[in-house]
Amino acid sequence: MDTKIIAPSILAADFANLQRDVELVNRSQAEWLHIDIMDGVFVPNISFGMPVLKAIQKHTSKFLDVHLMIVEPERYIDEFAKLGANMLTIHYEACTHLHRNLQAIKFKDMKAGVAINPHTNVELLRDTITEIDMVCIMSVNPGFGGQHFIENTYDKIRDLKKIIEEKGASTRIQIDGGVTDKNAKDLITAGADILVAGSFVFKSENPTQTIANLNSLIN
Ligand code: DX5
Ligand code: ZN
Repeated sequence: MDTKIIAPSILAADFANLQRDVELVNRSQAEWLHIDIMDGVFVPNISFGMPVLKAIQKHTSKFLDVHLMIVEPERYIDEFAKLGANMLTIHYEACTHLHRNLQAIKFKDMKAGVAINPHTNVELLRDTITEIDMVCIMSVNPGFGGQHFIENTYDKIRDLKKIIEEKGASTRIQIDGGVTDKNAKDLITAGADILVAGSFVFKSENPTQTIANLNSLIN
């Protein structure tokens, strides 16, 4: 079986001590670092942009998992490739030409991810699933860390897993929002491969230990 992955979300880090928190993740068992880019239009919040990502990239040793919560993400694909993104995830709801955008991401040698909001049915990905390296199921409404996990996510994981199998795709499933030690194992059992965890990791007493605990719950 594949190793399951914890991706700490830097959104919940201390931005005044960003290098410290990036290095903390470097020393941890997390394989990925999750980066939330918000434009204040697609979501009602603005996080940070390219200069901050550049600074993070300089210090991280992890797989850079970049989650774009922005309109017209196709405008920035080249730039995120240059900034060292390994996975570039765009929102289904932000794309008129999803298939074209996925190809553009892969052309730049990045993995291509598609995120779906809580209201978006997984069936809408059936026709593109073989082009998608990872589906990020939003288990909160995108825009903010620290929100409550939406329970309907479990059904979405199972439905998506079925589509992936029916289509013979190798797409991985990521869950983003409200992940804790209470739901991590159940999410993996339902079919998830990668769990993003922001507040639960960075607001804990010992984030490195919290990552290790989550990791042992899912592997
Ligand atoms: C929400 C972001 C998430 C967020 C998760 O819009 O996409 O990645 O950082 O934070 P927690 O784990 O606190 O829900
Ligand atoms: Zn995210």
